[in-house]
Amino acid sequence: MTKRIGVLTSGGDCAGLNATIRAVTLRAHHGYGWTTVGLHNGTLGLLSRPVEAAVLDPAKLDAALARQGGTFLGSTNRGNPFAYPMPDGKVADRSAEMVAGLRELGLDGLVGVGGDGSLAILRRLLEPTKLPLVGIPKTIDNDVANTERAVGYSTAVAIATEALDRLQPTGASHERVMVLEVMGRDAGHIAIAAGIAGGADVVLIPVLRWHLDRVVAHVARLRAAGRSSALVVVAEAAGQSDEAPDAASDAPGHGVGEWLARRLSKATGAEARATVLGHVQRGAMPIAEDRLLASALGVHAVDLLADGKADRMVAWWNRQVIDVPLDKVVGRSRTVDPDGTLVRTARALGICLGDVT
Ligand code: F6P
Repeated sequence: MTKRIGVLTSGGDCAGLNATIRAVTLRAHHGYGWTTVGLHNGTLGLLSRPVEAAVLDPAKLDAALARQGGTFLGSTNRGNPFAYPMPDGKVADRSAEMVAGLRELGLDGLVGVGGDGSLAILRRLLEPTKLPLVGIPKTIDNDVANTERAVGYSTAVAIATEALDRLQPTGASHERVMVLEVMGRDAGHIAIAAGIAGGADVVLIPVLRWHLDRVVAHVARLRAAGRSSALVVVAEAAGQSDEAPDAASDAPGHGVGEWLARRLSKATGAEARATVLGHVQRGAMPIAEDRLLASALGVHAVDLLADGKADRMVAWWNRQVIDVPLDKVVGRSRTVDPDGTLVRTARALGICLGDVT
């Protein structure tokens, strides 16, 4: 039976979204002869009449698209249908309008590409429609439960690592402490992975309670041993956890990189500079690993719909594509394991994690 499925990208963009949309569309077309409709701007396009969506032409989804950053469908992380921000500053439940928009599209299934928040919202939105939903995990934060990787994460780690590669020579040339603040919310995956790959001296992540005096002591030890520069990676949500901030404007967790650089400079006498990597980690050309992941997950998502399976998320586990119930994904978050391989590796390499070990 010919079917018509929808695909949308929701939440913050990341590298590999176009490759994901491409894989879904190609699998639907070549594997099953189905039509794929691309919904615009996550669920926001469902509020317009006519609905903002268009049939995707598989012939136009070529390799050039797979390597493009961003999402050509558009996305949003500000349009919760159940608490939609209105111009008067209030929030409103606009889910009924979106459901009506969905019905207008006459879909037989939907592939939602998003993080756990987006997937939770989509699941709730689709409930009254009984439309089969399959999720594909994407987020540079890599915090989606029950998948080892989400689309976009590997590229973000590569970018953060490259940033360290570039900061190191400047730090060494100017005898400075270089602090790199990376994204990743409170998960810490980008910080620990890039910190190891980029040869950082200090990595600070939210799941480990860290202490400024430990970091200061480590940097001071490096300087005493003859190394005048140091590389520090701090996750954006790794607010210093045992010291009250001096003032609201100086609050850790809100510009923690700048805050840390100032404190390290004051305490060690070293010159320190902070770099906030920000959205540079998101809109890049996906590295091969993310294109592969996007392709494998996109194909499997369509295969699930073809098998009549729904309310599931495709996932990467143990070098394989698998699928898990959305119940085991929504409302959960996967942070860095404090006893896991990466933390153990960092410690073994002499990286200071700022905690009491
Ligand atoms: O969830 C992805 C992410 O990039 C986080 O790492 C970051 O904290 C946040 O989104 C930034 O959101 P925005 O693009 O709305 O500033």
